[in-house]
Amino acid sequence: IVCTTIPELKAELNNWRSKFPEGRIGLVPTMGYLHEGHASLMRRAAEDCEFTVLTVFVNPLQFGPNEDFDRYPRDTERDKEIAEANGIDLIFIPSVQEMYPKKPLTRVLINEVTDRLCGASRPGHFDGVGTVVSKLFHLVLPDRAYFGMKDAQQIAVIKRMVDDLNFPVEIVPCETVREADGLAMSSRNVFLDNEQRSQAVVLSQTLSKAEKWIREPGITVTDMLERIKNSIQEAPSAVIDYAELLEYPDLIPPGSDTDLSQHNQTLIVALAVKFGQTRLIDNRLMAAH
Ligand code: PAJ
Repeated sequence: IVCTTIPELKAELNNWRSKFPEGRIGLVPTMGYLHEGHASLMRRAAEDCEFTVLTVFVNPLQFGPNEDFDRYPRDTERDKEIAEANGIDLIFIPSVQEMYPKKPLTRVLINEVTDRLCGASRPGHFDGVGTVVSKLFHLVLPDRAYFGMKDAQQIAVIKRMVDDLNFPVEIVPCETVREADGLAMSSRNVFLDNEQRSQAVVLSQTLSKAEKWIREPGITVTDMLERIKNSIQEAPSAVIDYAELLEYPDLIPPGSDTDLSQHNQTLIVALAVKFGQTRLIDNRLMAAH
């Protein structure tokens, strides 16, 4: 089922709910240009739920003025095929006019967990994400919603919003899907030229090294960050936007002198690196022991 308007979407959902009042609905929100990372969320939703909804919407509210909203890749015909092949029952592809018929005066603001990482380097980004995800939750009323750990901060932000505002939905985090060489799949990978593509593997390689370094007795946050940054800079075209080590999911930095090998909280190493115009992110959760 393909819906482009809100009334169509609601009619289809009401119809299904009247037939299967006990059935669970799974939601996979995306911005389209689907790849195997998105497909893994769809398959997970289809395994868990009796009805699955995929949304494809490039949300202008979460892009800054100098970001890539206009050139974000789009291919809805291909997206429909991938959705169908991965167990999606309904795909909702609204226009910007459909989602924001009036200038939106309301925002969902999530504080503190947005102070760092992408929240700091993309001001307003998570206000746009929180707002659109709230709208999608209200439109679909899913039992479960599936998000990728590729965007670990996004999961922390959405989970906090759901807890704070009592959204009746369970957030299901899903593993990051990677290319054979380790590069995290992303719709933005198509923008990389051959040279940038081969250098981009430095992100996942650095995360693997970080996982070993963190076990060294006596290693501090300062030591870790220095090694991480040096490792990324071995790729000549890499320009670091951020490289941070924080506690997850609160996204608070441990003290810079903390002996990490003795630290017993879950930590995240999160990276954002530009190759030319293309900004890639990746992260890994790790525990020192
Ligand atoms: P988008 O970047 O299209 O991602 C949609 C979902 O797919 C997100 O939950 C993201 O974490 C997940 N995803 C992307 N790449 C992945 C990979 N390699 N492995 C596993 N999951 C992956 O994230 C957004 O869109 C938007 O911010 C959205 C939540 C739709 C709100 O507009």
